[in-house]
Amino acid sequence: MPDISSRDPDWWRQAVVYQVYPRSFADADGDGLGDLKGITQRLAHLATLGVDAVWLSPFYPSELADGGYDIADHRDVDPRLGTLDDFDEMTAEAHRLGLKVVVDIVPNHTSHRHDWFQEALRDGPGSAARDRYVFRAGGGTHGELPPTDWQSVFGGSAWTRVADGEWYLHLFATEQPDLNWDHDEVRADFRATLRFWADRGVDGFRVDVAHALAKDLSEPLRDVGDLEAVGELALHRVPPGSHPYYDRDEVHEIYRDWRRVFDTYSPPRTAVAEAWVPHSRRALYARLDELGQAFNFEYLQTAWDADALRQVITESLAAAQTAGASATWVLSNHDVVRHSSRLVLPPGTDENAWLLSDGRAPSIDRAAGLRRARAATLLMLALPGSSYVYQGEELGLPEVADLPTAVLQDPIWQQTGRVRKGRDGCRVPIPWTTTGPSYGFGAGGAWLPQPPEFASYAVAAQDGTEGSTLELYRAALRLRRKLLDGERLVWADESPEGVLQFARGDGWRCVTNLSGRSVPLPPGEVLLSSAPTEDGRLGPDTTAWLA
Ligand code: GLC
Repeated sequence: MPDISSRDPDWWRQAVVYQVYPRSFADADGDGLGDLKGITQRLAHLATLGVDAVWLSPFYPSELADGGYDIADHRDVDPRLGTLDDFDEMTAEAHRLGLKVVVDIVPNHTSHRHDWFQEALRDGPGSAARDRYVFRAGGGTHGELPPTDWQSVFGGSAWTRVADGEWYLHLFATEQPDLNWDHDEVRADFRATLRFWADRGVDGFRVDVAHALAKDLSEPLRDVGDLEAVGELALHRVPPGSHPYYDRDEVHEIYRDWRRVFDTYSPPRTAVAEAWVPHSRRALYARLDELGQAFNFEYLQTAWDADALRQVITESLAAAQTAGASATWVLSNHDVVRHSSRLVLPPGTDENAWLLSDGRAPSIDRAAGLRRARAATLLMLALPGSSYVYQGEELGLPEVADLPTAVLQDPIWQQTGRVRKGRDGCRVPIPWTTTGPSYGFGAGGAWLPQPPEFASYAVAAQDGTEGSTLELYRAALRLRRKLLDGERLVWADESPEGVLQFARGDGWRCVTNLSGRSVPLPPGEVLLSSAPTEDGRLGPDTTAWLA
């Protein structure tokens, strides 16, 4: 069993990390928005669940143009969510309960309300303040056209024009101007931010859009043409490192610099990159002299198909090994359709169109979705490396696909001219109790409406209930701690078609049935299964752990 104690420098290698989206987790002051005190009060839930660490999405001062990823001050707490004292209290309580704390660092951009951007607007073209961002003159006869064809990830041009006629770059929302990482002051400021949180006892960092910081800003800026239509998928079509603003080789200098900061602490601070890049390139971010881990979005995007999963698992392990890193696995987060809904969407479904139909075209079978999600989770938790779990998935929460458009907060909705609903459906505040104005989220309402069926998913409804998804997660995490032994995975020599089977260490085997029909269970004692096993058989969409 690995030592998850506070001094072990390798605690992260096989850790299970629970993602809290602070505004939707627990609301202590009843204003409808989750807060730090709410998190502190609910940390016992995470300790009982059996995770090793909690990662908090941003809680910094923000006008919430992008759910908190638009940050006005990277070294403070949004007053609606609490104070730095509340943060310290939360960290102390987490540590007391044996939980590590990971915070989100958002280095690609600031909020337009950040002092630096306000200064840049005031000081005007050519000023030193503008140089911390990416300001340019426009094209066309009078500068009326954006400087390049670059598009925002959230829709529309990535350039917005300011009153004096210059344009600034924002790869995300208009309110999120991109920083210029060629600027020494920008680099120094983020080193200070990392130290600020590490000094407060933070154990690790999740690095937002880690692949976009380094940009080719040499003149003239290059158009990307057709590539724009496919966004980050463009990286599969161009020579590695040649895209003007994604996954450039120079970005790694930044993370090598950060590693020097992390290593001044004991144990060294950890980091995980959010990098939507192909496998082989992702491993570069995870090198031990850089961030150590990178999210495995290829795994998240893999269909519920035995061959595809086996391939992605094999490739992910190999890629992590080349970097000396541990592999990571994730099925849900605050940016994607929850996996209990996503995994039963027919292959090829356009998720944006599905959300726009309020989850009706096609309609999905919730029970089948939950069954599959539970099987997928047990499979994930048996893989060597670190797993990331998103708040609410331990309750089996489905995507809230039918949020009325009037309540949508994600900037994607407006910025795409109302053709993509965005990510609010996975960000609905989670239910703790079966009754109450927001099912125990807080004493008041919730910033996004919770559907009535959330009552049946509440922690209180599942706590101690045999067979509930919450109890399945608890049992799995308990058992995983006991069984963990090295980072080895050995595929079984033979498995029926559509069945994945592998061994971990000596006494632990995992078998997942994706074949659509029941199959005989391999010999051995069933330690845990995602659905009941009967007469020595494993039903469809079921995972079992065996000894
Ligand atoms: C990351 C975050 C996402 C955010 C974006 C811009 O992808 O996960 O929620 O909108 O970065 O900061």
